[in-house]
Amino acid sequence: MAQSLQIAQGASKKEIYQEILPQIKATISDEPDLIANLANISAILHEVFPNLWTGFYIAQGNELVLGPFQGPLACTRIAISPTPRGVCGSSAAKQETFIVPNVEEFPGHIACSSRSKSEIVVPLIANGETKLVLDIDSEQLNAYDETDQQYLEEIINLIKLMHYV
Ligand code: SME
Repeated sequence: MAQSLQIAQGASKKEIYQEILPQIKATISDEPDLIANLANISAILHEVFPNLWTGFYIAQGNELVLGPFQGPLACTRIAISPTPRGVCGSSAAKQETFIVPNVEEFPGHIACSSRSKSEIVVPLIANGETKLVLDIDSEQLNAYDETDQQYLEEIINLIKLMHYV
């Protein structure tokens, strides 16, 4: 069943995350299909935050393949190994969240859109393997911080509990 988003006007970033987390949980707990859930999570995040691009890349062998997203056209395949490409490939290979305040200073950044200025990538790790990454891009420099990391990692954990445990 579709849920309508309810966000209080003037809410802080932290308050917005706190409001959408239960809504994301409710939305995905009714649906066993991974792609459907990734599609709705990218839609929710993209609706409540002013990001340029919000979406997922799903691991297939040695590369990440474009999954559900909101925003401009994106590159479809990103290497994880032997040489990780860009922020997404690096996050998938190192199995840790990457916050990049200025993408032009990140060696090997993949410029899917010249409008992208900063980025956060959060991987989902299960049984020691990277299964997918959540990638969010902003037109502003330095758009992401520990608050984003904390709540996006919680969202990734919800996906893990639902689909990979
Ligand atoms: N900039 C990313 C590639 C994906 S897009 O931005 C949607 C990177 O360097 O991994």
